[in-house]
Amino acid sequence: MLIDPMIENNLNLLVIDDEKVVQDSLVGFLQNMGYPVIYAANGKEGIGIFKKNDIDIVITDLRMPGFNGLDVLKTVKGFSSSVEVILMTAYGDMDTAIAAMRAGASDYIVKPIKLNELIASLQRTARYQNLKREKELYREKLNQITAKHQEEFDLHNIIGESPAVRTVKELIRIVRATDTTVFIRGESGTGKELVAKAVHYGSKRKAYPLISLNCTSIHETLLESELYGHERGAFTDAKEMRKGQFELARGGTLFLDEIGDMSLQAQAKLLRSLEEKKIRRVGGQREIDIDVRIVSATNKDIERLIQENKFREDIYYRLNVFVIVMPPLRERKSDIPLLANFFLKKFSRETGKQVTGISEDALKILTAYSFYGNVRELKNLMERAVILCPGPEVLPKDFPPLNNQRRQFGLGLSERDFGLDRIEKDIIEKALRRVNFNQVKAASLLGISRYSLIRRLKKHNIG
Ligand SMILES: Nc1ncnc2c1ncn2[C@@H]1O[C@H](COP(=O)(O)OP(=O)(O)OP(=O)(O)O)[C@@H](O)[C@H]1O
Ligand SMILES: [Mg+2]
Repeated sequence: MLIDPMIENNLNLLVIDDEKVVQDSLVGFLQNMGYPVIYAANGKEGIGIFKKNDIDIVITDLRMPGFNGLDVLKTVKGFSSSVEVILMTAYGDMDTAIAAMRAGASDYIVKPIKLNELIASLQRTARYQNLKREKELYREKLNQITAKHQEEFDLHNIIGESPAVRTVKELIRIVRATDTTVFIRGESGTGKELVAKAVHYGSKRKAYPLISLNCTSIHETLLESELYGHERGAFTDAKEMRKGQFELARGGTLFLDEIGDMSLQAQAKLLRSLEEKKIRRVGGQREIDIDVRIVSATNKDIERLIQENKFREDIYYRLNVFVIVMPPLRERKSDIPLLANFFLKKFSRETGKQVTGISEDALKILTAYSFYGNVRELKNLMERAVILCPGPEVLPKDFPPLNNQRRQFGLGLSERDFGLDRIEKDIIEKALRRVNFNQVKAASLLGISRYSLIRRLKKHNIG
């Protein structure tokens, strides 16, 4: 008979039976098969052995005087959730055997024991046990990831002490304790996605998925299948059943990003599923109940889109329940130094560079700047500055020209100092020095192709 090598030798077995003959033949057989087996002559003795040893599977007789197989089952299961119990039962005991299965036995075999049946049962049980362990490991990993996300997207990671950001954090704190629909508004790069994550990972839904759907990126014809999934054979390419985002987000949060870009046709379908809290896969008959929290976001002037008949008013009222507005960075300038330092630490950690501060002049430039790209733009500036700056401190020259405040604040720099060619040459030289003049690395640092780098080297007479 074939024995699964994965299972063969790593299982500790405990056999409990009061019949001497069974014991001898069974235990001998299992030992010959290579299993480590311990044997007990009654339930009480079995429990004693179980407590002192690391037993994976208990094979116990059901009918024993005093402490019977059911008692053994309940007791060992009480000690360990991973142990599995196989019951041996005589023909007349079927009802009890069924009761035992209900009480958590993994299998039963009928006496007189056929050895191949016993082995098959052991293999089944071991496989089941392995699966259970894998599932537990998976759960644990998932919990770790969730915990990590929770930490990463906790409120203290939303940087800013300005009144506007404090208000936003307060609103998040309130709304994440509820199950209300959230609508996040604000210019591009203000941190809308960060808010959505803080809401989800701070809510009771955090152990379930947060599914983000960017409504801009989805092709009209794919959207329905993307949102609701499809049944096998629903259309030519539907070789397999596929779940949609709504279903994947079950129990969790569905984040509809850039909702202002959703087509009217898609909006109509979305409205139905939001109203009925039910979806139907494309090509499917069955209505599936969907429990998801909806968080949506836009940087568009949605009221104007409604006036222009580009956005449905009814869906607007469905989504626009609890509104959180992320103010533009230029309206909360006191947050700029905090954010700049936050990103400085982040990128010096990530790049391994010992950049520890920002000079006063450099900070002045940043706070004077209008940041139409908001926090994202500041983040990118800081990443670049940390990579380029040679010393421990970020200086004004580590930033590209930030045009809008030059005239405004008269930093005394001439147009020539900021000429694009000058700056390009400067950056390329810095990048080359940084990577010891390795062109491939320099190109990747600059985010351009090697060919493009070589072209620029020629243009600037470098190298
Ligand atoms: N207050 C903040 N603290 C720390 N990081 C922030 C903050 N606000 C934004 N960020 C970071 O800035 C980047 C842009 O933020 P996010 O993607 O959330 O913006 P968004 O409003 O969704 O932009 P878009 O409208 O373009 O999608 C992200 O990397 C985010 O982590
Ligand atoms: Mg976004």
